[in-house]
Amino acid sequence: MINIVLFGPPGSGKGTQAQNLIHKFNLKQISTGDLFRYNIKNETELGKLAKSYIDKGELVPDQVTIDMLTEEVKKPTEAAGFIFDGFPRTAAQTEALEKIVKEVLNDEISICLSLVVDDEILVKRLLKRGETSGRSDDADENIIRNRIKEYYAKTAEVADLYKKQGKYVEVDGVGDINDISEKLYTEVEKVK
Ligand code: C5P
Ligand code: MG
Repeated sequence: MINIVLFGPPGSGKGTQAQNLIHKFNLKQISTGDLFRYNIKNETELGKLAKSYIDKGELVPDQVTIDMLTEEVKKPTEAAGFIFDGFPRTAAQTEALEKIVKEVLNDEISICLSLVVDDEILVKRLLKRGETSGRSDDADENIIRNRIKEYYAKTAEVADLYKKQGKYVEVDGVGDINDISEKLYTEVEKVK
């Protein structure tokens, strides 16, 4: 299997690149953000809880997110591996993911692909996306900046954990979408 952690701050292009990667390598994308939004739309208890954090640009508590992710990984799939998009976002989630992938899939994370984008470009991209995404957390610059703050406070250290394992690769996330995809494909081919 190929199991990719697609990493980077909000607005770095994880969702966009995941779409190309799933087709190229026949992978299943698990986006925890998308799962939360699905639950919010369907007004589930999980959705109500998640919304109270997401609307402030904060992270949902680890155990809630980890349990939701675990359920998704357990679902049968024909795919050749997974792309984890927007997860892990904390050190605890990183540890949990390692355990889940080992116990459920009898496998390990192949690579952590990190999309690097300057903060001010992120803010511009997210405000632009907010014009059409309908996402409350894209609509307000203060919330966007809080999401970036949360990223530095809690998520950036995830990179160090994958660096220690020799699995961390940075790719410039600014430029033509397909050019960025090509760079990602090259990195995946190396660990395939
Ligand atoms: O990944 P995405 O940017 O779609 O996530 C949207 C929001 O969902 C985050 O800003 C955060 O509030 C919440 N989230 C989280 N923990 C994750 C993924 C998403 O709290 N692992
Ligand atoms: Mg996303």
